[in-house]
Amino acid sequence: MEKYEKIISLALMAREKSYAPYSHFNVGACLVTSEGKAYLGCNIENASYGETVCAERVALFKAISEGEKSFSSICIVGGKGDNLSFAYPCGSCRQVLWEHCSGDLAVILYDGEGVEITTLEKLLPNGFSKNNLK
Ligand code: THU
Repeated sequence: MEKYEKIISLALMAREKSYAPYSHFNVGACLVTSEGKAYLGCNIENASYGETVCAERVALFKAISEGEKSFSSICIVGGKGDNLSFAYPCGSCRQVLWEHCSGDLAVILYDGEGVEITTLEKLLPNGFSKNNLK
């Protein structure tokens, strides 16, 4: 738990910026590169609901657009108000992370009390990738 304190606090900080006036479900993500640099993201909703972007993808796209290519972990925190729950990444985010991260990317979830650690591979077994296009 202490090992994850820093990444959790950064994800909680990112969550403060969440723009979720429709679902009121606020999400923050902290994506850490192999060199230890952190990129933060929050969910950003839209009146045209389908244009909403998830916290994980905001963090990832910020990192990719800055030239980052290698990632070690992502921490995700989500919930309504003070009510944090384990917020697993949605299927679309799993697929988008799969494009840029290895299967052993650590996925760290925090519900306000405890942590759950898993990997991208466990969340997306046999994911579709560019190798399938050969
Ligand atoms: N959301 C995320 O930010 N990440 C996920 O992986 C799941 C869902 C956001 C999208 C929307 O703003 C709100 O949570 C409710 O679906």
